[in-house]
Amino acid sequence: MIIEPRMRGFICLTAHPDGCEQNVINQINYVKSKGTIAGPKKVLVVGASTGFGLASRITSAFGADAATIGVFFEKPSAPGKPASPGWYNSAAFEKHAHKAGLYAKSINGDAFSDEIKQQTLDLIKNDLGQVDLVIYSLASPKRLHPKTGVVHNSVLKPIGDNVFTNKTVDFHTGVVSEVSISPANEEEIENTVAVMGGEDWELWIDALKAADLLAAGATTVAYSYIGPSLTEAVYRKGTIGRAKDHLEATAFTITDKLKDINGKAFVSVNKALVTQASSAIPVIPLYISLLYKVMKEKGIHEGCIEQIQRLFAERLYTAEETPIDAAGRIRIDDWEMRTDVQERVAQLWTEATAETLPLIGDLAGYKKDFLNLFGFDVAGIDYKKDVNEMVEMPA
Ligand code: NAD
Ligand code: NA
Repeated sequence: MIIEPRMRGFICLTAHPDGCEQNVINQINYVKSKGTIAGPKKVLVVGASTGFGLASRITSAFGADAATIGVFFEKPSAPGKPASPGWYNSAAFEKHAHKAGLYAKSINGDAFSDEIKQQTLDLIKNDLGQVDLVIYSLASPKRLHPKTGVVHNSVLKPIGDNVFTNKTVDFHTGVVSEVSISPANEEEIENTVAVMGGEDWELWIDALKAADLLAAGATTVAYSYIGPSLTEAVYRKGTIGRAKDHLEATAFTITDKLKDINGKAFVSVNKALVTQASSAIPVIPLYISLLYKVMKEKGIHEGCIEQIQRLFAERLYTAEETPIDAAGRIRIDDWEMRTDVQERVAQLWTEATAETLPLIGDLAGYKKDFLNLFGFDVAGIDYKKDVNEMVEMPA
């Protein structure tokens, strides 16, 4: 079939298999161009199909020759219905990993469930014996709690007494408008922490450890975000920020639990990037389009793969101790948070309108990155060509 983007609000309902494969190939080539990392050998990535998780899987495999197991929740293709992008990405990743002689298997299902955890434990036990790195990179709007059966839904709201009002952009149309968001109540805060906090990360590590599937000295890493004061009310000091506080605190709990095997849990604070998860957060797309412009002008822009390659090569797998900030976190958002970058973004923020944004912001770059997530607008792909939408995960 001929597959075109079909937009609905913040999401695209279709994905292009060739475009997704090309994105994966480009990421593989980037990692290979940076040379070998003395990195992990057997890796579990939870949330492995898109964004930072996919980049972590590619960096492990093609930067360090690691065997990888990827867990994700994606929609396979059906006749006349393209799969979700993470499905096509993962099929392409496995295909190229196998071609390179690397072990790669995937499990598609709800990572929050006991059942998918058990399937993953069984696969590690049978195929790899143990893992030495566990990347936790889930981004989900909801979680069915495996013990209580309660479905928790996360919200993106400020916390406190005041309605938050600021600029935002509809990145499809370029229209800049004011958005107002009422503060969350206590229950909404708790639900967001239940979905995006550290409880499930800890459950994964508990299960792996109890089954003796963590190698001596194993590392686990989850991803967080901080960002500037511009987005603080809706991000770091809002409901999602509470969840990230919990995730960051969980790293210490997990490190304590791993003492006997000399293991360690880290949170890495990553850069703001266009992913399916971040596109849905109000205010963030406007911030990202200004940030991209400034970072590209300064020659320091990075995507997920550049971020994770640098995380592995310059933070996690070096001869020195992993550098951390005062709160114990790895900072790979260092270039985003540079004073000169943030001062420039803050200034542009005051000037941003629908008229000025195409000039002062990188709205075109935002849109392109968004389309790229679904395999569209990728260089070298012929979108007029009839493609087979049916793609199986390699055996
Ligand atoms: P993403 O949407 O690209 O990836 C989410 C992954 O989680 C996918 O592989 C998806 O299949 C998987 N997933 C979702 N629900 C699942 C479920 N129930 N079971 C199994 N798999 C499931 O998101 P991302 O932006 O790469 O985010 C990953 C992490 O990085 C998040 O913790 C996010 O907060 C963090 N982070 C993101 C940014 C950013 O700007 N995008 C910045 C810093 C940190
Ligand atoms: Na991810």
